[in-house]
Amino acid sequence: ESGLITIDPGFKNTGSTKSAITFLDGEEGILRYRGYSIEDLAEKSTFLEVSYLLIYGELPSSDQLENFQKTITTHTLVHEDIKTILDGFPSNAHPMGVLSSLVCSLTAFYPESLDPNRSSEAVDLSIIRILAKMPTFAAWAYKNQVGHPVNYPDNELDYCSNFLKMMFALPAERYKANPVVARALDQLLILHADHEQNCSTSTVRIVGSSQASLYASISAGINALWGPLHGGANQAVLEMLEEIQEAGGDTAKFIEKAKDKNDPFRLMGFGHRVYKNFDPRAKIIKKAADDVLEQLGVNDPLLDIAKELERIALSDEYFVEKKLYPNVDFYSGIIYRAMGIPTEMFTVMFAIGRLPGWIAQWKEMRENNEPIGRPRQVYTGYNHRPYEETSKR
Ligand code: SDX
Repeated sequence: ESGLITIDPGFKNTGSTKSAITFLDGEEGILRYRGYSIEDLAEKSTFLEVSYLLIYGELPSSDQLENFQKTITTHTLVHEDIKTILDGFPSNAHPMGVLSSLVCSLTAFYPESLDPNRSSEAVDLSIIRILAKMPTFAAWAYKNQVGHPVNYPDNELDYCSNFLKMMFALPAERYKANPVVARALDQLLILHADHEQNCSTSTVRIVGSSQASLYASISAGINALWGPLHGGANQAVLEMLEEIQEAGGDTAKFIEKAKDKNDPFRLMGFGHRVYKNFDPRAKIIKKAADDVLEQLGVNDPLLDIAKELERIALSDEYFVEKKLYPNVDFYSGIIYRAMGIPTEMFTVMFAIGRLPGWIAQWKEMRENNEPIGRPRQVYTGYNHRPYEETSKR
């Protein structure tokens, strides 16, 4: 503490805003979007219906949902010049960097979106556009990596089937999305849709608080999500599971590494700033992993390693005492892998899911006219000192 200013690194004990969107209870493992439990929504709703709920505050009527879905469908195509931007990326470009770049390029194709005083109808159009184009950008980022021609959206398909077709269709073959995969993907997107003031959402809010555009704010959120301590953890979990597999499945050795203060290795997919008993999303995803792999006839040894890791960790006093449990990122990659989605695309999947949450939080911040985010500091540098000529240094 220094006078009036309390330093709170990582904002562990700081509330940045009041919000009516998402409720978390870290002790009880409760997650609700606009009052609806994640368990209900994951089982009974759809990703676009949940997107509408988060952004507009109420579940849509069937007419409202049909109109929302149809409007999104008519905006899935992107300007052909964006393909030129995509072609400028080398094939080794990480899809998250491509995604945040293509999203930010929307500020050039829709310059009216830069006007902080535009009408709510114009804001709604920006919201429709980015919800519609995100799957197209994500699939194109993947095609750039694998050197395949991009696929254009197919307006006959639902949101997830359209994404899967853009991801996996090849000119040489007919493609039909597996409905099991499409439904599992829809459920995963619901589970990722919002999570109150996490790192990437706080980024979207603070960038938007300067009256930067929705597209610029979302692009910043994508970059914050990329880090391995945040959304990038789902990619890091799979890389960790593969490393354990290559080490002969010696899970105990990796548990010891994670406990060793001198070893930077962390058990990726474990621990959470808010959840101190369990992450309700991890529970649902763990069950879904069993169901989806069985339905797809996939037997992935990494799932067994993940379950073994969880079992040992939860009986180890280091993890129990520090309240470290599997989080949303621990099992999600297993399902993406069974869907044929490559590891480097896992965090892109997280971004597609989190998009409606970022939009809802940005919209709430702007509608509440929240002030520009500008924290203070405690200065620890030099006192005043006179400038000295180079010759005297
Ligand atoms: C997401 O905030 C959100 O809501 C995020 C998210 C969302 O939906 O937006 O839920 C999505 O980002 C989930 C988290 C994904 N990240 C990982 O799985 C990476 C591994 N986990 C950690 O790095 C860590 O647990 C965090 C980042 C998730 C939370 O970090 P905190 O709250 O700052 O906790 P901390 O780093 O201070 O750790 C507390 C203690 C430390 O030990 P001590 O210094 O007290 O001795 O627990 C230890 C840490 O060393 N610890 C771990 C660990 N996580 C914390 N030790 C080993 N393995 C781990 N995974």
